Amino acid sequence: MGIKKILRMGDPRLLTPAKTITEFGTPNLREIISDLWDTMHHANGAGLAAPQIGLPLQIVVFGFVENSRYPDAAPIPETVLINPHIEPLDNMTNIDWEGCLSVPGLRGAVSRNSTIRYTAMDIDGKSFSRVATNFHARVVQHECDHLKGVLYPMRISDMKQFGFAEEINN
Ligand code: NI
Repeated sequence: MGIKKILRMGDPRLLTPAKTITEFGTPNLREIISDLWDTMHHANGAGLAAPQIGLPLQIVVFGFVENSRYPDAAPIPETVLINPHIEPLDNMTNIDWEGCLSVPGLRGAVSRNSTIRYTAMDIDGKSFSRVATNFHARVVQHECDHLKGVLYPMRISDMKQFGFAEEINN
């Protein structure tokens, strides 16, 4: 249990598709999820995916009441997704700034679906789904991209909108 090292862009493990989880409710799964929460909270992140701590598994955690990295964001319930699936509910997209704990210090503007339904298993293997919009939908799409080996800079269409957070915010 505890805080794990977060891999940074350039590490090939961040580009590897993650494997489906087949065993639920196990002590090992609980420990991995506990480590993800510890590591995410320690880094003040909005979300974290298992590949970011070097585990090629389809597990993400996300959510916060307040987040210093995204001070204007509405709260998102703390959620664990295992083997998630995302379905866009319409053709609307929006562009907004994203960061990533694996790409420290940088921000980029990325287009995402505005409204999605996500379906996943919980820690005990029970399926659930939710509809999400805007920043909540963005966080889920960003985290689930990690499970496909996709990092947000790969989705930036205008590279003029990619840079260091400290410079962009000035
Ligand atoms: Ni990320």
